Amino acid sequence: MSSVLNDERIPNNVNLSSDKKLQRALEAWQPNFVDWWKSMGPEGFQADDIFLRTAVSVTSDGWAHFDYVRMPEYRWGIFLADPVADRRIGFGDNMGQPVWQQVPGEHRTTLQRLIVTQGDTEPASVEQQRLLGLTCPSVYDLRNLFQVNVEEGRHLWAMVYLLQSYFGRDGREQADLLLQRRSGDANNPRILGAFNEPCEDWLSFFMFTFFTDRDGKFQLLALAESAFDPLSRTTRFMLTEEAHHMFVGETGILRVVERTAETMAEHKKDHPDDLRKLGVIDVSTLQKYLNLWYTLSLDLFGGEISSNAASFFASGLKGRAKEDRYDDHSALNQFYSMDVPKDGSITKEEVPLRNAMNEVLRDEYVEDCQRGVDKWNRAFEAKGLPVRLTLPHRRFHRHVGLYANTYADPSGKLLTKEAWEAGKDAWLPSEKDKAFVKSLMTRANFEPNAMANWIAPPKQGIKGRPVDFQYVRRAEA
Ligand SMILES: [Fe+2]
Ligand SMILES: [Fe+2]
Repeated sequence: MSSVLNDERIPNNVNLSSDKKLQRALEAWQPNFVDWWKSMGPEGFQADDIFLRTAVSVTSDGWAHFDYVRMPEYRWGIFLADPVADRRIGFGDNMGQPVWQQVPGEHRTTLQRLIVTQGDTEPASVEQQRLLGLTCPSVYDLRNLFQVNVEEGRHLWAMVYLLQSYFGRDGREQADLLLQRRSGDANNPRILGAFNEPCEDWLSFFMFTFFTDRDGKFQLLALAESAFDPLSRTTRFMLTEEAHHMFVGETGILRVVERTAETMAEHKKDHPDDLRKLGVIDVSTLQKYLNLWYTLSLDLFGGEISSNAASFFASGLKGRAKEDRYDDHSALNQFYSMDVPKDGSITKEEVPLRNAMNEVLRDEYVEDCQRGVDKWNRAFEAKGLPVRLTLPHRRFHRHVGLYANTYADPSGKLLTKEAWEAGKDAWLPSEKDKAFVKSLMTRANFEPNAMANWIAPPKQGIKGRPVDFQYVRRAEA
């Protein structure tokens, strides 16, 4: 196991003090990061004590420490999973060769772009979520929001470490730019679409952590296969933290569904107007928010047919999730049978498998999302209610790839632009829906035993603490 130094300015298990130049570069970046955190991180809670998990090692048993901490003083560290002895490239044209400890010149630009793109999502989500604390349903949820936020900050550190260690002056410039782009900014936006979308209410937050953080999981799984070993080791450890983010989303939506289902059963009502009057979120609104965040997240996987994806796979930069499950690792002379739009209808096309790698990863993502949706639906079943949530067809509401310039309804049927315009308020959150959801979330209650009416309490608290534990100690209280 690599030794961990937690008493240095930057906690790390990469022996940072042995590389003075790198250490100085990262220590110079650190105050800029903290400035960014103070201005773009959670608004209104920077002086409070939050019960947070901090990564302190990469061992599977005791990797994290839980205690109260003020967020600007959080110990963001650099942790790489332990190296695998004699690790070999597991796929593509360089299969079987030793993995790379340095960046090969011919892959420098592409690898840097992959790392910058991943890194950019981390601060973006913190920016998207910065006002949510002010309307939290409970301090339990408030703490989970901040846990996700500080760990996205650590994921930024993880990517910045790679940029500064392996990409020289270009890497240092890119590390600075990661603190300069802003989510949703017209002139200097974040790189990927979903990370510029407003996330202004807790229903969106839970959908985001379920659907968009789950894209993160699959991107990290694909990068964990990378021939560039430091990237593989970094992303493997990030996945440990990512699991909690998706837990927050999955259980968050589950609790909303439970509360809605309970109210529907108790009052024998299913009309949205009646449920809204009772202060819970009706099923059609839940479905619309699901439709929005699921489809924004589908776009993050990139085009269905992609020569970039093919060359990433060929060269070993990015593999398939859990590549060792496959029998063949070359992906040559194999085809992916894909639906392709042509002249207003859908035809089948045999796409060389390497060019379909984005779609292969998207397939796994869809399957993983479905598992969560099934779980939510069991909460309706448990109350004897016939309603169900569903994942819309992947042709619906797409802005990247083959369907970017087409219109389709949630069942995947292609539509004219007019028919789309006429139908879209039934499929995606309308201004009225958004206003309703926000109206439920106008203020926060910081009493540890308080829970907003629109969401059920969680089954259990954090790290053995009760649900009504004081997860946040307000500075002025
Ligand atoms: Fe992340
Ligand atoms: Fe995350």
